[in-house]
Amino acid sequence: MANKSASETAQKIGRQIGPVILLGPPGAGKGTQSKQIVDRYGIPQISTGDLLRDHVARGTALGLEAKAIMARGELVSDELMYGIVASRLREADCKRGFILDGFPRTAAQAGWLDAFLEQEVFDKSSTTSSEEAENCPPVVIQLLVDYNQLLLRLTGRRSCPTCGRLYNIHLQPPLVDELCDLDGSKLVIRDDDRQEVISGRLTAYENQTRPVADYYRVQRRLVAVNADRTVEEVTAQILGVIDRHCHDRSA
Ligand code: AP5
Repeated sequence: MANKSASETAQKIGRQIGPVILLGPPGAGKGTQSKQIVDRYGIPQISTGDLLRDHVARGTALGLEAKAIMARGELVSDELMYGIVASRLREADCKRGFILDGFPRTAAQAGWLDAFLEQEVFDKSSTTSSEEAENCPPVVIQLLVDYNQLLLRLTGRRSCPTCGRLYNIHLQPPLVDELCDLDGSKLVIRDDDRQEVISGRLTAYENQTRPVADYYRVQRRLVAVNADRTVEEVTAQILGVIDRHCHDRSA
């Protein structure tokens, strides 16, 4: 049903949205808000955390390499990330636009992404249709959240292993304790949401990901939103930013 409505909306909108980059610390709500953007615009969510967890679950060589790093809350190497992200962005469903959730996460990744988009998306000499030539530059949205609220969001997060719906035992509890409202599955806790790993993830964010916001701020491409509000209020701010971005571009 959700997919049907997403595709109906996409058909209704039927235009280029371009890349949407969500920046924010662990627990800021990047995944939660990505799902709202998917519903509104019908463009795919590309979560590098989900892509890595999928490699870990399948036991690929990349997954084996990433597993221990993720378990410590550290960042996987830039070189490993480039391959995963490049192949995902080349898939057909990214043509109208895509949401990057968790990438870029270092200043080097941000520079790599600019070069990749310039080369593969904006290089008009290599485009084959007028629609592709209309691609718009990324809109970069920074989610600002108070530190104590982040801790509540991370320590309380639960997810449904069947449908992927997110809950929070402190802030957005399911109707029945630890069970998904939609399909009754037993909710699970992410491996890296343990207290000792959370502090490593927040440190990695401060040291390695905060400079990414500076990178985009200097280029005047960063739009900050107050993400310390309800999910619906944050969504309204984000959709407003994307709509204005697309409108300004087409005006
Ligand atoms: P990743 O999966 O990207 O994790 P993260 O960035 O730490 O972000 P989270 O998924 O924890 O939080 P979120 O912002 O999506 O919040 P959510 O919506 O879930 O990365 C995991 C690991 O993979 C990294 O540590 C690293 O090792 C590796 N990795 C990934 N990308 C990489 C890269 N580019 N380079 C190198 N390594 C990489 O919400 C959290 C909770 O809050 C939920 O319970 C939700 O219900 C609740 N919530 C959300 N919004 C609200 C709200 N407005 N009000 C109340 N509750 C809310």
